[in-house]
Amino acid sequence: MKKILFSATMLLFLVSCNNEETTAPNETSKLTERGCASHEVLQEQLKQNPELAIKMNQIEAFTEKAMLEGRLVNGKIEIPVVVNVLYRTTAENISLAQIQSQIDVLNEDFNATNSDFNQVPSLFSGVKANVGISFVLETVNRKVTKKTSWGTRDAMKKTSRGGLDPTSPTTKLNIWACTIGGGILGYAQFPGGPSATDGIVVDSKYFGLSSAASYPYNLGRTATHEVGHWMNLRHIWGDATCGSDLVSDTPTHNTANYGVPAYPHYSTCSGTPVEMTMNYMDYTDDRGMYMFSNGQKSRIAAIFVSGGARFSFGQP
Ligand code: ARG
Ligand code: ZN
Ligand code: CA
Repeated sequence: MKKILFSATMLLFLVSCNNEETTAPNETSKLTERGCASHEVLQEQLKQNPELAIKMNQIEAFTEKAMLEGRLVNGKIEIPVVVNVLYRTTAENISLAQIQSQIDVLNEDFNATNSDFNQVPSLFSGVKANVGISFVLETVNRKVTKKTSWGTRDAMKKTSRGGLDPTSPTTKLNIWACTIGGGILGYAQFPGGPSATDGIVVDSKYFGLSSAASYPYNLGRTATHEVGHWMNLRHIWGDATCGSDLVSDTPTHNTANYGVPAYPHYSTCSGTPVEMTMNYMDYTDDRGMYMFSNGQKSRIAAIFVSGGARFSFGQP
């Protein structure tokens, strides 16, 4: 394991050295002592010419924007969706209307057309994002089962274990609807995992716009959150006390937030920022989450570019 980590670090180091033109000035420091001459040259140039840092930051911003426009705006990513329903009870055998309501929520939330998008506080209005990815329901597979709950170890994704294998998992988003159990609403596989288990799982009770019985998780945001993970987004609190989600425009959160926190909710982490509790990647109630940030959009964009982990999706 250590060896693998070490080679991964070396690889990163080599790649960085070969791509010095695209490395932001603030990311160069860790590499200067490693004999990568291009970085020493750059450091020297930055010392001589303070405006270079500004210019490089502009190039960096342009690169990010080009990446988004190339693939996420003009490219119009449309993701075909396959829904796999596993049911024992009639309630678990969710209707097509129920399934379509979930697709609609995903389309709203990923295109900033959700009716609560205007509730984003002005503090975050500069970073609230229209991710610009849409979802098209292609197939619904249904299978009856004797299982009362499926757990979180991917049994529902395997025909051999009574579940349903994914359909074309390198080009289609597979979503399983079943009873997970253990109080789990849903779970996702991050980019890079095996394609045999790729996709997200959403408990049937919290799938789409559901009844009062599913409150406060009745607005389809479990799938929005899980698709966020599937597109490489981490929890906003970085799964640690004052952890990092690797996104710079989201504030550092102490920990997960639940319910619907009153605004403003201050972090006790360094700088005591106001937390972005209304982000889909927090743990609030469905009605408490209604935005992705531009930084999250950039992370998403990066997996859909040529060479990215999900480039194969949304290809016409
Ligand atoms: N993976 C999370 C869980 O099962 C999902 C949280 C989704 N939050 C929501 N408001 N729907 O706990
Ligand atoms: Zn999560
Ligand atoms: Ca952050």
